Amino acid sequence: MNEKDTNQNEQKGQDVHRETLTTRQGHPVRDNQNIRTIGDRGPATLENYHFIEKISHFDREEIPERVVHARGTGAHGYFETYGKVGDEPVEKYTRAKVFQGAGKRTPLLVRFSTVGGAKDSPETARDPRGFAVKMYTEDGNWDLVGNNLKIFFIRDAMKFPDMIHAFKADPASNIPHPQRMFDFVSRSPEATHMITFLFSPWGIPATYRHMQGSGVNTYKWVNDKGEAVLVKYHWEPKQGIRNLTQEEADKIQAKNVGHATQDLYEAIERGDYPEWELFVQIMEDDYHDELDFDPLDDTKLWPEDKFPWLPVGRMVLDRNPVDFHAEIEQAAFGTGVLVDGMDFSDDKMLQGRTFSYSDTQRYRIGSNYLQLPSNAPKTAVRTNQMRGQMDHRDPNEAGDNPHINYEPSMIGGLQEAPKGERPPHRPTFNAAAMSAPIDRPNNYGQAGDTYRSFENWERDELINNLSEALAVCDKRIQDAMVEHFTKADEDYGRRVKEGIEQKMQENETMTADEYLPGRESGKTKFGLGT
Ligand code: HEM
Repeated sequence: MNEKDTNQNEQKGQDVHRETLTTRQGHPVRDNQNIRTIGDRGPATLENYHFIEKISHFDREEIPERVVHARGTGAHGYFETYGKVGDEPVEKYTRAKVFQGAGKRTPLLVRFSTVGGAKDSPETARDPRGFAVKMYTEDGNWDLVGNNLKIFFIRDAMKFPDMIHAFKADPASNIPHPQRMFDFVSRSPEATHMITFLFSPWGIPATYRHMQGSGVNTYKWVNDKGEAVLVKYHWEPKQGIRNLTQEEADKIQAKNVGHATQDLYEAIERGDYPEWELFVQIMEDDYHDELDFDPLDDTKLWPEDKFPWLPVGRMVLDRNPVDFHAEIEQAAFGTGVLVDGMDFSDDKMLQGRTFSYSDTQRYRIGSNYLQLPSNAPKTAVRTNQMRGQMDHRDPNEAGDNPHINYEPSMIGGLQEAPKGERPPHRPTFNAAAMSAPIDRPNNYGQAGDTYRSFENWERDELINNLSEALAVCDKRIQDAMVEHFTKADEDYGRRVKEGIEQKMQENETMTADEYLPGRESGKTKFGLGT
């Protein structure tokens, strides 16, 4: 017991030591094994205060899990800026302070995740991995909410809820089935590129430490003059990239459904701190006639030869959480959380995402979720947004005049900050409101390029995995998928078609009977003693 505790406990007149169990009211717990009853076998009483508090708090331990990315883990660390973008000073492109002053460190929180599974689902799933970073910068928080893969299935936020429904289990039986995913994907040709990555070994990263990260959507950087460029972010693991074959993943999953969480936690515990380098790709903020795709389409890669990866800094994870629920489960990341010197592009997915994150977090965590230590910025917060459940505002948030909780005012209260330069939007806004697809979908070009860029073993895995999943799908879905793959690359389509036929002949699907292996156990069925 330290001196401060002794003094406090003496003041309270209690015999509470540092190791003594207490109630949440600070009272020592003298019996944590037996409830109070009338006699030793009689009914319990309502004045069982400690018991009722203990059970009722337990009954409320869980909060809703994330509607997507429910399975995840996280760690703390820092970002160190190089102060440059490639060879150029970073100020040329952005005034964001987080990138200025070579060697400057900004504390951060990272959460890695899978997408489709529930909170304790296997981490060997064939699924994109979430890569969400929250930087507590001197300008306030900046969240970069990305995935391991650099592209996405769809390009319009309108389709996201249907996509997730299709990827999750049947709503009647709660049984997952690949047909649901491929039914949706076969009617969404823009997903061909992402499916090509997902069913290759890139769809199962070996661990969180050995995967890349990417912002996927296009953002903007804005400099002091208010000039903007389009920007994409990428994280490159210093540990190298490692992916699993389906067979390797199955072996791990049979023994451990949380191997990636364990790997990250144990690496940090032993001082083997994982590190990633941050790169950006920069493009002039324009329509770009010369490209055969829309730069704001998140199903596309920006070709590296035209838009090189430029290093801007590095991230190190060096501290594990001490309370997973408080620090990681209640962490809230969102694409709307940008700092001065950054802006949104007109990427239709980014726009839709930006509404969704804080909306779900008000429901999942509560309207004051931004007051929790993981989510609050390390800079001053002064706002007139107040009250709500569990409001725990620092009184300083009200500024110097706690009586004026509105703005504008001539007699006090908080004032607007000076105007900053925000870049003008491109003049395409002079248009009617409409629901329309983009004009350069090019759904197959890069899917074919990616197929051809794979190593032989990666391509073999891709064909095998796709054939296996498609072999149990409706013929109409099989045909539509083969058509998409053929349009991407003839060899690709032909091999998937042959693969499906072969898998169907082998009829490798497990029947319900095969799920009933075990031996009958009946000897003690009536209990002991006959
Ligand atoms: C989590 C919505 C697309 C990456 C979430 C959550 C929602 C959501 C509601 C749960 C957040 C929470 O409970 O805190 C959407 C919508 C999308 C979309 C509506 C499309 C319109 C994407 C894309 C990426 C992505 C393209 C990758 C760049 C993530 C990540 C998380 C997440 C990493 C987990 C964040 C964490 O660790 O807490 N998304 N998402 N999402 N999303 Fe998205």
